[in-house]
Amino acid sequence: MNQENDFSENAKEVKQQYLEVFDPRLYHRIYYSSLDDEVKFFLRRYHEVFTKDPLLSARCRSRRRVLEFGCGPVPVYAASAAFFTESITMSEIIPTNRSEIEFWMNSRPEALDWTPFFSYLASLGDGRKENEIADRLREVFQVVIPCDGTLEEPLAPIHQKYDVIMTTLCLEFATTTKADHRAMLGRVANLLRPGGVLLMAGALGNTSYSVGSTRYPSVSLQKEDLEDAVTSAALRVASLVTLERQTSSDEKPADHHGVFFLVAENQEEPTV
Ligand SMILES: C[S@@+](CC[C@H](N)C(=O)[O-])C[C@H]1O[C@@H](n2cnc3c(N)ncnc32)[C@H](O)[C@@H]1O
Repeated sequence: MNQENDFSENAKEVKQQYLEVFDPRLYHRIYYSSLDDEVKFFLRRYHEVFTKDPLLSARCRSRRRVLEFGCGPVPVYAASAAFFTESITMSEIIPTNRSEIEFWMNSRPEALDWTPFFSYLASLGDGRKENEIADRLREVFQVVIPCDGTLEEPLAPIHQKYDVIMTTLCLEFATTTKADHRAMLGRVANLLRPGGVLLMAGALGNTSYSVGSTRYPSVSLQKEDLEDAVTSAALRVASLVTLERQTSSDEKPADHHGVFFLVAENQEEPTV
């Protein structure tokens, strides 16, 4: 059965473009060679939610299974969950991005350098050093699996559900219309267990970004679009924080006017 039918042709073309040309090393060089205030905002919010927000910090150990959806080649957002959970699964549609995650998790010499980001996480508190955070992430990391948000079952053939799903700069870049974005958010929300929490970070007002000579489209979202999409996925918005753009277009060849961090809750009662 073709499960992509709820999506426009554009979403399928975007997916093909990622699969055919996305270069993780060039992406790292352009967007993650240094730590900017927008990435700091994402890391700080993830850290605060995992350590202080009662929606997460009050959970028992058996309700802390974490999935990162659409991680790209980037291990650092998952690192903010390393001391919250015993189990982090990462997911990404592009095989070369999954390989980059595996290189880093296996401490291979060819792995990309994320040191400034781990140093920043260490500076956020708890007295842990950057290498302790990296070691702990490698310890709780389970696997990086394929995902595709245009599928009815985005992790097929895996049918696992998760207590916490985190996703950064993914859904708005995997779609070009609000209807497709809403549909994809609904599919990702279906991967939550009852009582689960979605943590979503991303760009506001962005229509495209470049990696070298390749331009990737995205859907331009405002705060209200996010609230609508989350509500139509049957989740309750617990908090939504925004930050005006902090980077120049030389630093980041993208046209967003801001970034956001959203926490939403699936209100079904957990059975255990
Ligand atoms: C801008 S990158 C963000 C990567 C990373 N999460 C980050 O924060 O830098 C967009 C991501 O969306 C992923 N993506 C594109 N189409 C997708 C789809 N149909 N389903 C799931 N992810 C998709 C890409 O592979 C890529 O990793």
